[in-house]
Order: sequence, then structure tokens, then C-alpha cells
Amino acid sequence: MKFFIDTANLEQIREAQDMGILDGVTTNPSLMAKEGISGDAKVKQHYIDICNIVDGDVSAEVISTDFEGMVREGEALAALHEQIVVKVPIIKEGIKAIKYFTTKGIRTNCTLIFSAGQALLAAKAGATYVSPFLGRLDDVSTDGLNLIDEIRTIYDNYFYETEILAASIRHPMHIIDCAKIGADVMTGPLSAITALLNHPLTDIGLAKFLEDHAKTNK
Ligand code: G3P
Repeated sequence: MKFFIDTANLEQIREAQDMGILDGVTTNPSLMAKEGISGDAKVKQHYIDICNIVDGDVSAEVISTDFEGMVREGEALAALHEQIVVKVPIIKEGIKAIKYFTTKGIRTNCTLIFSAGQALLAAKAGATYVSPFLGRLDDVSTDGLNLIDEIRTIYDNYFYETEILAASIRHPMHIIDCAKIGADVMTGPLSAITALLNHPLTDIGLAKFLEDHAKTNK
């Protein structure tokens, strides 16, 4: 399972990269705004800075909602760095743009996926990744994991190569459940990733080992 971090915060990206487990980064306009990154030149430079920290794919989202605008923006983003994957919303114009990018060899991440039908269309258009928003479905009392499971079944039925990128991850159990279902990638905050480390028996066991070592090595 690939681990992506869902942030535009360079410090957190570096921390995850330093752990040696980071396979990529996802961003969105809200995450860029959270870091105070605005203006075309600054946004583009920020994507380059992220690419220079990680080895893997970096999703950069288009703002346009029309085909021509998406193509213009997406081509400019893809030209920034070979690690850039163009993130496109699942709307009709977005599907057209993904199909276009696919024919041009530009990799895409189809975002804002909340149904299996949307994921099926994204795969048919040739999306590299599809991003179902697990946590946001859970937020409205709908089983987000069930959607990941449905998409896994559909993609396996037809051998679609589109990778399932489980997004809107909120906590470590989301990551574990997605791994059980067979999501190809998960993207989440650093807190959810590092929470995978936590177990009180590990803390107790380590403290005891160190204590016993200290006793006999005075
Ligand atoms: O990047 C898209 C997705 O991961 C958003 O997550 O927490 O805003 O629902 P969240």
C-alpha cells in the first residue's frame, strides 16, 4: 500500500519523508490556502518545492471547471515537474479533460469521488488515480469504506489500472481498513500516519527493556 500525505505543509512533508515511508503527496486548493500559498507563481513554486522533498507523485489540482481551462492549467502544472499528477474534479468537463490528458500521457487524479459510478467513469477516461473521500462520507452517516470496497470490486472485475487513492482519511483505523480492502494508496494527515505507531504495550515494553538494561549496565 502506498502512503501519501495530504497536506501542503512543507515541514510535515519533510517529517514524513524522513521516516522513509512516504510515497507521494496530495494537495487541494483548501490545503494550499491553509498554508497561505496564493498567486499563480507562488502556487507553482510551492508544487516544485514539494516535488523536491519527495520522490513520488504530487497531486496538483486545477481550479477551472471548463474543459479548455482545465487543459490549459493541467498542461502548465504537468510541465512544472515530472512528479506532478493533475488533479481534476469528477464533473463532465473533468472527465473530458482526463480523457484528453490520458491521450497526452499526462497523469491524473480524479477527485471528489463519492459514488462507485463516478469512479467507474474516471477509470473509463483513463485516470491514473481515483480519490474517494472516505471521511467526508462518514461525516454524513454514510459508510465510506463501503465505497472503497465497491470500487475495488468494479476495478478488479474489469482489470482497470486506475489506482484507488483512499482520501479524506481521518484516523489510523481508516488506513488499516483501507489496507484490508485493498486500496492501492491512502492519503491522510501526518497525525493519522504516525498514530499507526502507537500501542501502550510497546511503550510499557520499551520502558521495561531500557530499565532492565540500565540495571545491569551501571
Ligand atoms: O485531498 C482531499 C481529501 O483528502 C480531503 O480530506 O479531510 O478535507 O475531507 P478532508
